[in-house]
Amino acid sequence: MTDEQIVYLNGEFMPLAEARVPVLDRGFIFGDGVYEVAPVYGRVPFRWTQHHARLVRNLGKLRIDDPMDAAGWRGLVDALVARHPWDDQFVYVQVTRGVAKRDHAFPKGVRPTVFAMSSPLPPIPAEQIELGVATITLPDERWLHCDIKSISLLGNVLARQAAVDAGAAECVMFRDGWLTEGSSSNVWVVRDGRVLAPPRDNLILEGIRYGLLEALCAAEGVPFEVRPIARDEVTSADELMLSSATKEVLPITRLDGRPVGAGVPGPVYRRLHAAYQRAKAASTAEAAGRAAR
Ligand code: PDD
Repeated sequence: MTDEQIVYLNGEFMPLAEARVPVLDRGFIFGDGVYEVAPVYGRVPFRWTQHHARLVRNLGKLRIDDPMDAAGWRGLVDALVARHPWDDQFVYVQVTRGVAKRDHAFPKGVRPTVFAMSSPLPPIPAEQIELGVATITLPDERWLHCDIKSISLLGNVLARQAAVDAGAAECVMFRDGWLTEGSSSNVWVVRDGRVLAPPRDNLILEGIRYGLLEALCAAEGVPFEVRPIARDEVTSADELMLSSATKEVLPITRLDGRPVGAGVPGPVYRRLHAAYQRAKAASTAEAAGRAAR
């Protein structure tokens, strides 16, 4: 957050400090809305098509009218990026069901509230790439629609705080003994040179990096297997990794105070990290090529 930040609220651009939402907004009262976080590298939104598709899917799941078409969303993201000086940014977009008298059932004839902002994307600390991050295991106490990128994030907030209280960067959650994900990231297990991914069901958010890592594994010739992953396969993994829009892909080198595998970032992580950097560079190069044509 910076003083000069310009945000978008319901059709208008304004300084962040001037953006106001009525207290009866259902986002404030019920957490009734969805959001997206998309990274921007070299002023080019990365995998925006996929982020937009997930936003549209989530709005549909909550039966909130999509306030804009695809070109409208893209125009909004591009306009926000253009208004700020940072080459690398991350765009946050939130749509709530709108403002209405407090009543749990959906109100009729209400316009969704649309909010969007872009912030400087903090560089990933070199030590996290070189040494990895520490995590703790936690029972997944969230609801059964974790596939929806809902702004109701209390379960995720409590899980992240438990990790922070334990001096860790993130948690690795399990439901009934099966791996789900982190508080704000997907979690990947490496065993015998294979990347194991938990199923894309209602128990995890399918990150935009889920499809990306699958594609990068295919390109690198790393076997990628989607299946339920038991707790002991995680605690005895060769490597663990996490991914998110703002963290890219990071090695997890400690779990509950114990080293993961050799306790240092492993070879599969290093390959995928390098492939991720190439994908970022390709995205900006492609956009520059399009602009030159
Ligand atoms: N979080 N799982 C959860 C619960 C998440 O909140 C996120 C992302 C992911 C990874 O998704 P993606 O690759 O699309 O970022 C998985 C964002 C960054 C956030 O809430 O800030």
